Amino acid sequence: MSLITEYVILSVLGTVIIAVMRLSWWRAWPLNVLMTPEFISLKLQPSDTTNGKSTQDDIRRILKLADYHETAARLADLIHKDGADSWPPRANHVHSAWPVALRPYKEIYREMAPLLPAANVSLDDELNRQRIDSFRSRFETLLHDRVNLKQVTQLLDAADAGRWDVFPRDIYNAFYCCIAWCRHAYRWGTIPVVSPAQLEKSIALPPALTAPWASLQAHFGLASDAGNMMSNIVLNFSPEGEYTHKINTGLSATVLGSEEEFARICNEMEALAVPVYHAVIRAVIAFSRGDKDDCLARMQQITARLRPLLSTYYDRVHDGKIARAEWLSRVQGFYAWGAGREDASTGEWTTFDGLSGNQVLLFQVLDAFLGLDVYLSKEVQERNVPVLQREFCAAVARHTFRHALGEEGVDGLIRGEFAEIVKRLRLFRSAHRTRAKFYLTAPAPERLPMTAGKSLLKGDMDESLQFLDAFMVGRLQQTV
Ligand code: HEM
Repeated sequence: MSLITEYVILSVLGTVIIAVMRLSWWRAWPLNVLMTPEFISLKLQPSDTTNGKSTQDDIRRILKLADYHETAARLADLIHKDGADSWPPRANHVHSAWPVALRPYKEIYREMAPLLPAANVSLDDELNRQRIDSFRSRFETLLHDRVNLKQVTQLLDAADAGRWDVFPRDIYNAFYCCIAWCRHAYRWGTIPVVSPAQLEKSIALPPALTAPWASLQAHFGLASDAGNMMSNIVLNFSPEGEYTHKINTGLSATVLGSEEEFARICNEMEALAVPVYHAVIRAVIAFSRGDKDDCLARMQQITARLRPLLSTYYDRVHDGKIARAEWLSRVQGFYAWGAGREDASTGEWTTFDGLSGNQVLLFQVLDAFLGLDVYLSKEVQERNVPVLQREFCAAVARHTFRHALGEEGVDGLIRGEFAEIVKRLRLFRSAHRTRAKFYLTAPAPERLPMTAGKSLLKGDMDESLQFLDAFMVGRLQQTV
């Protein structure tokens, strides 16, 4: 082939490739962006493997990368909007900072919280029914007398219209958390959860808890009546790390400590996950640019961070920190929901599950990066995983490159790092199987078998455990 022919063929080929890339903005990002000075300067920044780098540093860099890659854009959007410019998401629980119309909710929480836990658990259904009814009736009266729902709705509408000056995002998050606590408290009426409440198929919550919830859930792109990992746990900490809405106010230090340590796992995990999310994004970008050495360095950052990250779970989920004798009855039940309603459009009955560790963002991101099938069905995700989190995971799944790696050289080394992530996840999943069983087999005679994430289970605990174990074994087997 002559030089001229080769030149003509290459030019035509180049034009076709550019035309195809320009069809979509994201496919064109290498052209638009890779050669800009900003990108080159980001690339030249020293690798941030050192522990001295703060989460804020990672967040700043993720935000800067938003123009360069879809994965970064999705995460930056999540951090900016749902996170109130921070991650884990910032929640401002300071009563005096809240708009006046919302403050009654916080005040009512303070009044109702000490009435929720029963120091002595009763097995008498009638007595338990009375407890539930009297708790609900008092709650309803307070909400009715003190909340001006019209003003609350105006604030929520202002937020929907983007008026974050009126209703700042960190207060919006804290309010979401407060309403979620109120709804779960109202749903159960007494903690430990007792069987008369579990047998209720639907719950008529007061309007002051339904109208704001509908608006908040629509904002986060969620369809459930139940709270979720974000609303009830991750947002239940102040930026200073103070655990806020409590289930077991007034009970022993062991109970309160178990409750708080359990909640802290998921909040802390998200904080420690930020450098991992950042490194995932950088690995994806490096690979797409053909910079395999940089990609390998980013992969090594991920694997190095996974051990301390998963330690937040390993170091807490044992009897010393989360008392087995207390957790099932006094902590887990609150996070369940197990009630539902008829779907207005299909006429079908829907029962909503409550919280589960399976909603934790980190695991969904790692699964997406490994190219594993999703664990939660689309329907369950749409009920419990905020839409911006779903979109970030979907972007990671679209851009992961594990399947495109060769066997030799740097590709082989990158493969090795993927294998290391798999190893750590498998270790977590098999440890989790054992620990979950340890907690779920604790006696709870006041109630029927139930987990927060799977509502009412089979008739007895042995059968229920087999049912649950099947999920965990299945996921372990898929983690390859
Ligand atoms: C200590 C009390 C806990 C118990 C008894 C428990 C129990 C379970 C059970 C039975 C499942 C399988 C069914 C389902 O998906 O709902 C599950 C799944 C899962 N749990 Fe937990 N869990 C606990 C705490 C946690 C914590 C603190 C985390 C993480 C921070 C976590 C993370 C997960 C994940 C990611 C899954 C999905 C399956 C997988 O990816 O392996 N769990 N859990």
